[in-house]
Amino acid sequence: MSHNTAAGMERENDIPRHIAIIMDGNGRWANARGLPRGEGHRAGAESVREAVETCRQLGVDYLTLYAFSSENWNRPKKEIDSLMKLLERFLREKLPEMLKQNVRLHAIGRLGMLPESCRQEINQAIEKTRNNNGLNLILALSYGSREEIVDATRNIAVKVAHGEISPEDIDTTLFSSHLYTSNIPDPDLLIRTSGELRISNFLLWQISYSEIVISPKNWPDFRNADLRAAVDEYARRHRRFGTV
Ligand code: FPP
Repeated sequence: MSHNTAAGMERENDIPRHIAIIMDGNGRWANARGLPRGEGHRAGAESVREAVETCRQLGVDYLTLYAFSSENWNRPKKEIDSLMKLLERFLREKLPEMLKQNVRLHAIGRLGMLPESCRQEINQAIEKTRNNNGLNLILALSYGSREEIVDATRNIAVKVAHGEISPEDIDTTLFSSHLYTSNIPDPDLLIRTSGELRISNFLLWQISYSEIVISPKNWPDFRNADLRAAVDEYARRHRRFGTV
């Protein structure tokens, strides 16, 4: 059965509806070339652009990118500042393209911790793209899955304390609806680059049933063909699963 995406594009059954990516290895990519780490992030932003383009071509509905983790706040201030500037610039420069390509931007994480100028750029891009109905691009920023689960638990606890819900009402559906990803389906495919075999506090609840593909390539080297290869790998597993 094929599936019509909001963009009106045909998405085949073997195409994941939601791809989540842990973009790792920017620093190593730069080190290997004797470049400062910031150059690795800059090259990584080009892979982001390409991943968005490939997902659009494939008819993927949701692409979630782990762009800045809660733990990343422990990096040197200089690196944090340059990442925030890069993000701001990326959003500013790519907004016309996102509008043209019918991409809708979302952000998940403790966004209040981001610098004001960065938050403004994010809010502006979210607002301007809110009527788009093609690819949903979700940036995980100042994101940690344990923090997300704690935030959801707090919100539920407040509702219980106010008598809005009773403890018996709490089930997996209600819990999911209190996560940052409440309106987003769980990822079908999780990709991590640079060969690391870790989840690193990313979407712990949501990836319960996701297929995981690890690429040995550093994120700046992970391009169109690599993403398509990961989707092919997903399709192979998916088809096998379907016949059991
Ligand atoms: C991991 O590489 C990557 C990050 C911490 C940041 C990801 C950011 C980008 C790809 C830049 C632009 C993002 C957007 C959304 C425009 P690392 O620094 O941990 O690499 P290492 O493990 O080799 O040191």
